[in-house]
Amino acid sequence: MVARYSRIAGTGSHLPPRRLSNDDMTAMLAQRGVETSDAWIVERTGIRARHFADDGVMCSDLALPAAQAALAAAGRRADEIDLIVVATSTPDMVFPSTACILQAKLGIAGCAAFDVQAVCSGFVYALTVADAMIRAGSARCALVVGSEVFSRLLDFNDRTTCVLFGDGAGAVVLEASDEPGLLASSLHADGRHVGVLCTPGTVSGGKVSGDPLLKMDGQAVFKLAVGVLESAAREVLAKAGRTEADLDWLVPHQANIRIMLGTAKKLKLSPDKLVATVAEHGNTSAASVPLALDHAVRAGQIKRGDTLLLEGVGGGFTWGAVLLDY
Ligand code: UT7
Repeated sequence: MVARYSRIAGTGSHLPPRRLSNDDMTAMLAQRGVETSDAWIVERTGIRARHFADDGVMCSDLALPAAQAALAAAGRRADEIDLIVVATSTPDMVFPSTACILQAKLGIAGCAAFDVQAVCSGFVYALTVADAMIRAGSARCALVVGSEVFSRLLDFNDRTTCVLFGDGAGAVVLEASDEPGLLASSLHADGRHVGVLCTPGTVSGGKVSGDPLLKMDGQAVFKLAVGVLESAAREVLAKAGRTEADLDWLVPHQANIRIMLGTAKKLKLSPDKLVATVAEHGNTSAASVPLALDHAVRAGQIKRGDTLLLEGVGGGFTWGAVLLDY
């Protein structure tokens, strides 16, 4: 039987234990002659700390405990999953996908498993794809994960980017349901802006060719993000026949508190309705939305029946939104 809706049955997340405060970063960068400060990072971004995975810890290693926590919260066993979608830009390998590696680590086999690459919009893209597959009857119990080890891409001689990002993973179990559920989503991309946020290196001829470190024109990304986050929000509200007044929580990509507060203000939402974990996690790219979601659920902020707006924005340039009743 084909379900009318998909709904989130459980959430989970995982942060690697090594936490670096802004003072820790400042001291680390000073050893390279790179100057930054807690005051600058807090004032411009709202970030106070981030977590970095130890050497050898891969994207799938962070995804596994997040997935297991989501399964436990949903009351599901791993062998009940019939679809795995992992959003990441920092996969374990060029191929196979991190979703296949995660499937093996979960001790299951046979179900479809693939990665989605939409950088910081990745989780919103992955959730939309899983929702569409559930509503098409191709899956009934999907594991949707955002997991990143962005620390591996950082240029620690570039203070304009290296203080911003962190590692982590978040996951949801998305199940077929006759009750809402995901209400509407919208995904967008504009490849003309590839250069504003990219890691241009690739593997070729047995070595990395091109620069394998992250590059960002922060101000260009900032301007693009502010505009598209408002338009994507309005688009999903209109599709679902709802208004801003129906929103209980905004769970945006966690890159910069100024962008997040700006989006809330444009939607006339009180800052109390903003889920903000950027201070403690930094920007974890595709992991940021499910990490923030799980933290807010476990903190008792987000409750069953609440209406949530999830939003992603980032490299590509990509952006999107998902409106759902939790
Ligand atoms: O995940 C995808 C989405 N990504 C985003 O949404 C990121 C969007 N962009 C941003 O969040 C902000 O543009 C940044 C946080 C990246 C930068 O903030 P800003 O207010 O746009 O700063 P800026 O680039 O205009 O730099 C201001 C000053 C510069 O110095 P001068 O030229 O004015 O002397 C920078 O060199 O701040 C300097 N600066 C720093 N100073 C201390 C840049 N990075 C640092 C640093 N520590 N880490």
